[in-house]
Parts: sequence; structure tokens; C-alpha cells
Amino acid sequence: MTSKLDILNSKKEEALKGGGEARIESQHSKGKLTARERIQLLVDEGSFEEIGMLTVHRSTNFGLDKQKFLGDGVVTGYGLVHGRPIYVFSQDFTVLGGSLAEMHAKKIVRIMDLSIQNGIPLIGLNDSGGARIQEGVVSLGGYADIFFKNTMASGVIPQISAIMGPCAGGAVYSPALTDFIYMVQDSSFMFVTGPNVVKTVTHEEVTSEELGGASTHSEKSGVAHFSVENDLKCLNDIKKLLAYLPQNCEEGAPRYPYTKVDEHRPNLNTIIPDNPNQPYDIKEVIKELVDKDSFYEVQSSYAENIVIGFAFLAGKSIGVVANQPAFLAGVLDSKSSNKAARFVRFCDSFNIPLLVLEDVPGFLPGTEQEWNGIINNGAKLLYAFCEATVPRITVITRKAYGGAYDVMNSKHVGADMNYAWPSAEIAVMGAKGAAEIIFKKEISEAEDPQAKWIEKEAEYAELFANPYNAAKHGFIDEIIEPAETRKKLIRAFDMLKHKVAHLPKKKHGNIPL
Ligand code: HXC
Repeated sequence: MTSKLDILNSKKEEALKGGGEARIESQHSKGKLTARERIQLLVDEGSFEEIGMLTVHRSTNFGLDKQKFLGDGVVTGYGLVHGRPIYVFSQDFTVLGGSLAEMHAKKIVRIMDLSIQNGIPLIGLNDSGGARIQEGVVSLGGYADIFFKNTMASGVIPQISAIMGPCAGGAVYSPALTDFIYMVQDSSFMFVTGPNVVKTVTHEEVTSEELGGASTHSEKSGVAHFSVENDLKCLNDIKKLLAYLPQNCEEGAPRYPYTKVDEHRPNLNTIIPDNPNQPYDIKEVIKELVDKDSFYEVQSSYAENIVIGFAFLAGKSIGVVANQPAFLAGVLDSKSSNKAARFVRFCDSFNIPLLVLEDVPGFLPGTEQEWNGIINNGAKLLYAFCEATVPRITVITRKAYGGAYDVMNSKHVGADMNYAWPSAEIAVMGAKGAAEIIFKKEISEAEDPQAKWIEKEAEYAELFANPYNAAKHGFIDEIIEPAETRKKLIRAFDMLKHKVAHLPKKKHGNIPL
């Protein structure tokens, strides 16, 4: 038996070495951790159980028969994060560049199946040169198997991807099918075709970083949800995110013990400037409303005119969607509509109640927006809210104009509670534009058209730039003192905690993608 144990132990030792000392050193010299180091930092100490450690590839092409590594370039298994189980795969760049082929893909698919069947989140740590070139078409098949499972898992369990090295070609589509993407600054990139191909096809000169680095995808494309400084921060942030999420779509949003504090927030009474055209930072409002330091912003550098993120309210996880008057006046455009729509759908998939803070002057006009499909993109956000069955509460802090009023979780699209602050302006359009249209004749015939315009603008504003008309129609449930908002929200979400809402029977809807 001793000799058999020796064999087992020596195999395990071999597997733990990955691609060998030299390649591990090279990985470290790039500021990157190894696949196993990453897992150890992700999971609770001593909790990792590996699956498929002794797997090897079956290829003999191009000398691969002499290059066999136990584990085949990916470490897979399960462990605990904050005491709750997760499944994880971590690609090992020290083994054939973390390249993916038949057995590597099978290992990933196996833990994806386990994640789905057991209702446990899946974390993918990506660091790979892509399809293993020597193995040919089986590598492509392996990727497609993963894409299929990603899609089957979508909405069943949270899927989180970290890009911690190269991720190129079709390989990018697995992370793109998951719920959240983290990218490590300076050491990761994602693109469908690299700089060389780009140069040949479009004659553009571009670096990997410019084409698909963390800043590009977190600021320009919106593909990445989080851009983080290094591997350690990335793994810590994933752990932080998991705390807001249930394990699967059957579970309620996490709820933690909460010690009651003074819910009165007097700062909110003075946060809205006297001049309705003056910006303020909606994140200051969020900070006052949610539990101390609990707001975790998603896509903070992309489409900053809308703010999305998770928070705890009286210890319970919620999703926040808020127009940002401090950026482009909080207008809705294509990018911000897309950003918010996907977030709303994520929260709804996983039973996370939604808080909407509204201060929106309308949709952004112009050829760029129209040609980029603001109609479809705005419709996505509308669709996402209409379909969401989680508890949903809206607070209108200031502007709620035009179609944007309808879209931003109005009562008409199914919100459960709609509050407005006394500073709210709920109308078809701003007073200036409205006066110009409905009093056109009177203004043009007046002795002093400018003075007439101002007079009519004031008349319109007096009648409509307030929340009282909307309240009269029952569109607003209560007009509240801003300082009382946190207390109202805690009570209202508690009142809604057993909400049951069903959608009409259908195969699936047809969201305007
Ligand atoms: C096999 C690979 C590999 C791959 C890297 N390696 N990529 N082996 N298949 N795809 C190996 C290298 O030969 C090398 O082996 C080791 O990994 C480390 O690679 P280096 O090039 O030394 O590292 P580095 O300089 O950091 O460059 C990393 C890299 C580069 C940028 C990823 O290796 C690269 O460009 N690789 C090819 C990428 C690619 O074209 N992949 C196919 C994409 S198409 P040794 O033994 O020397 O250490 C695709 C389609 C998916 O993925 C479609 C899904 C639908």
C-alpha cells in the first residue's frame, strides 16, 4: 500500500507544479499569480476540493504526446466563499499557455453541470492563449460546449468571469455570456481579433491595451463591469460581489443581521439645488439612503449618466438604478439604457429587489443617438422593467420628463411603490419647450415675445413642474420629505417582501436586442 500511496502522492506533486518552475517564475515576473494561488486567495482557507487533477489530453499531434501535463492546463473544483459554496475553474497559463482543448474543456463543462444541478455560483478565472492550436477542431468544439452551458446556466446561477491574462478570439464569448466580467489592469485583454489582424484588415495601428485592455472595456465598450489593479484585488472584489448575490434563482436575496440606526437623514433635505438646472451627485443620495459603505458600484466608468450597483438596505441586498444629474444632466441615451437594462434583468433573475432613483430630463436627442438605435436601446430598458417581478420602488428626486418618466420604473410599467420628493417635476416636457409649443401664436403676436415666453413658461412650470398632478392621478403614492426616504424604503421593501407576480405563460419574450 505504501508504494501505491507513493505513486498517488508523486502524481499529485507533479500536478501541483503545473508547467514547471521556470514558467511559474515567468508568470510571477508579469505580476500575475498562478492558477492555484488564485484559487487559494479566492476561497475560504482550506476549503478547496479539486476535481480532475490527473486529467491529461489525448492528442499526439505536433509533438503533444511528449507534452502532457496533469490537469491539462486548468484547475477545477469547489470551495467556500464567506462559508457559502462556489464552483471555480482557473486556467493555468504555465501549461501550454492555458490553451483550451478537448479535456481542458471537458473539465470546465463538468463543473458547469455541477453548478447548475446544485444551484451554486460559478467563478471562471481566465488566463489562456485560446484554442490549443495543435488539437485543432476539438478545441473549437470545447469552446462551443462551454458557450452552450453558459447559456443554460444564465439566470439559474450567478456566473462571474475574471480576465487575468489573454482572452482572445472566440474565447471572449464565454465571459461575455456570464453575468459580470472583472479585468485586471495591464495584464489582461479581450478582443475578437488581435492588433496584427486589425492592422492587416483595417490598417489601424493599435496596441493590445488600447484594443482590448481593462480601461478600454470598462470605459469605452462596457464589456467589463469592473477594472481592478491586480490579481489580489480582483479576487477580493469577486468575494465582495458574491456577498450581495443569492446562490441561485430559487433563493431570495441575501439578508444579514442588521442593527437599527437612526434612519432620519437630514442631509437629504438640502441636497437638491434651488436652480433645477444645477447638477448634484446622485451617489451622495445613494450613500445617505443605503447601509453605511455598502454601495458597490457596477460599470462605474461606463455611461456615467446612469449609476447602477448593489447595496444593503437594513441588511438586505438590493439593486440600485439611478440617473446621474452630474453627468450629461442624467439624460438617457443608448449606452446608459443598455447598461441599466442588463442590470435590471440580472437583479430580477436573482430575486434582488430594485430601488430606482429618478432625475431624468428625457432621452438624448440627435442623429448619433437615433442612428445608434436609441429607440431599440431605450425599449430594452422599458422591457426589462416591465418584465421584472421583484419588488420595485421608485423615488423621483427631481426631473421625470417625457418618455423617460414612463421608462424609469413608473407605476404604469409595474413599480410597486412610487415616491416623489417635493422638488419633483413630473411632466411631458420642460416648461420652456412646452410654452414655446402650446403658446406659439400668443408668443409670436405679443409686443415683447421674449417676455411673453418667460411668462408662459412660468405659468406652465407652476402647473406641471411639481409632483402634485401626478399624485392626483395616483401615479405617485406619496410625496415625502427627503430626510424620511430611508425609513420609507426600509418599511416599503419589508412590506413587499412576500410579493408574488407572474408573467403570462410564454416560451420566452422577444426583448428588442
Ligand atoms: C497552444 C499556446 C497557445 C495556443 C500560447 N501557447 N497560446 N499553445 N495553443 N493557442 C503556448 C506557447 O507556445 C508557449 O509555449 C506558451 O503557451 C506561452 O506562450 P508565449 O507566447 O510564450 O507567451 P506570451 O508572450 O505571454 O504571449 C501570450 C499570447 C501568445 C499573447 C497568448 O502566446 C499568443 O498570441 N498565442 C496564440 C493566441 C492565438 O492565436 N490563439 C488562438 C486564438 S483563436 P512554450 O512551450 O514556449 O512555453 C481561438 C478560437 C477560439 O482561440 C474559438 C472559439 C469559438
